[in-house]
Amino acid sequence: MLYLWLKAFHVIAVIAWMAGMLYLPRLFVYHADTPRGSIQSETFKIMERRLLKAIINPAMIVTWVLGLYLLWDGGWYKSGWMHAKIALVLIMSGLHGVYVRRLKDFAADKNTKPAKYYRILNEVPTVLMIGIVILVIVKPF
Ligand code: HEM
Repeated sequence: MLYLWLKAFHVIAVIAWMAGMLYLPRLFVYHADTPRGSIQSETFKIMERRLLKAIINPAMIVTWVLGLYLLWDGGWYKSGWMHAKIALVLIMSGLHGVYVRRLKDFAADKNTKPAKYYRILNEVPTVLMIGIVILVIVKPF
């Protein structure tokens, strides 16, 4: 029963993490086209920082802690799908690190990437999420 409760909270944390991972690069797309020093640019900085600190970071930590508990309690560490899932989640966590660097660039008015770069970046978490959910639900191997 505890396992199922923790799995429910794992999925809730996953939803919050993914919402942030999909929304933050969208903010970057609009921010990249905004003049430096403008009121809009300063507003984007606040929105980006709050999204990262209040949603994305805590949601990622809860997803990892509960996911690792489920992995251990369910004995899933021997399963092939789980190894593949961990690989994709590690890439997702690395992408999270890329977002943090880009956010710091914007905060210092040092962004050099065009809006198109962020549009493409926006697709990466979507593809990873589709792969992760198929692996954990279908468990194909
Ligand atoms: C951070 C590292 C993660 C670990 C160690 C982990 C591990 C696990 C484990 C062991 C389960 C239980 C599987 C079962 O009982 O059948 C689970 C469930 C689940 N995980 Fe993760 N997970 C992680 C991250 C993620 C991410 C990033 C996503 C989605 C993008 C995700 C989506 C899900 C879903 C949807 C379930 C419920 C599957 C079901 O009950 O059928 N997980 N996770």
